Amino acid sequence: MKRRRFNWVVSDYVRKALKVYLEWSARLKGERFYCNALAGESDYNITVNCDLTVSCACQDYDGSGHIGDLNKSTFKEVFFGPTAQRFRTELAMGKLPIMTCTRCGDLKRAKKSQVKVFTPASDAPQNGTKTEPSLFAGPTPRLPYRGMLLENTVRCNIDCIGCDRQSAARIRTTKQMDLDKLSQMADLVHDLGLEQLFYLNLGEPFLSPNIGQELPLLAALSASHIFFSIAGTSEEMLKKYEKLGHYEKAYTCMKALVDYRNARGLSQPILEWKYLLFNWNDRPEMISRAIELAKAAGVDAISFWPTNNPFFGISYRYRLGMLNNIGIKNWKGREVDLRQVAKAPQAVVA
Ligand SMILES: C[S@@+](CC[C@H](N)C(=O)[O-])C[C@H]1O[C@@H](n2cnc3c(N)ncnc32)[C@H](O)[C@@H]1O
Ligand code: SF4
Ligand code: SF4
Repeated sequence: MKRRRFNWVVSDYVRKALKVYLEWSARLKGERFYCNALAGESDYNITVNCDLTVSCACQDYDGSGHIGDLNKSTFKEVFFGPTAQRFRTELAMGKLPIMTCTRCGDLKRAKKSQVKVFTPASDAPQNGTKTEPSLFAGPTPRLPYRGMLLENTVRCNIDCIGCDRQSAARIRTTKQMDLDKLSQMADLVHDLGLEQLFYLNLGEPFLSPNIGQELPLLAALSASHIFFSIAGTSEEMLKKYEKLGHYEKAYTCMKALVDYRNARGLSQPILEWKYLLFNWNDRPEMISRAIELAKAAGVDAISFWPTNNPFFGISYRYRLGMLNNIGIKNWKGREVDLRQVAKAPQAVVA
């Protein structure tokens, strides 16, 4: 078995320390936690994995965030099931149920006085057993409506240093979602009335041998946004994170897709350069160069996404507000809209 990367081993210690810190600091301030994703309010975290397990977070590399399995239960049963309820209850009691919470953007705080007992809706599944009352803080949990991730495959050929995809691949019972299952998931997305579907998680969606048949299924959900995850503006910069990636190939493909779309007189899918920010690619001149290159490629937007992973790559320029003059702030980080884009329901492919 391949040895875990050094940054992941260190990261385990960092997360243990963070857990103690976060739990005590909340307790001392009279605060408790809640999970925005388990409240049904997140854009980007609840994930249906390629083997139909459901994770609360997209960085669920070890399965500790599995809240259920759609092979055995409905989505509603999973979302209000015993594991999800235990997570909500522990958070409301001031405890982080899994280590992933320590670095999760959906971990939120609320005053202790705002903790409530969860009363399931009359049509909510009861699982046939009488259990302890569940608690929650923050908004009353509801089914997700803003966005979710759907993983068609857990295969990848890029090997990014902050992505422990290989561990996730080891625990999947299949590496690839078959077309029947995918079409069931398309129905789920429709039934939930999701505003956005991110067609990615811990794999490279375009490595699926069925991608040609999958895209029409997505088209039925009005697939309208493709992100190109390119973490730099040169081969050297990109390979610091995306070790087996190729800047020239990625940039050329992105530009070719813009040309292909434009030649057909289409304005969709929206094409966006997703630029993960690290302290080796976040200097102002690098950001300006990326924006110029994005304009030259003709993409609709370029967004700059901060990450805490790997810990030694954290963009302190972003954290210190030194990039606040770039575009607008949103849930991604900072975004430069290179074209006025109408907001519409969308499915997203990376
Ligand atoms: C795991 S990847 C799967 C999709 C595709 N393989 C890719 O990398 O774009 C899912 C998303 O995570 C993002 N990502 C990769 N490393 C990350 C990190 N260290 N922190 C936050 N997001 C990251 C990627 O940009 C991508 O949009
Ligand atoms: S890791 Fe924690 S905070 Fe993040 S989605 Fe899961 S339960 Fe919520
Ligand atoms: S390309 Fe995506 S899935 Fe592959 S290693 Fe990088 S982040 Fe993980």
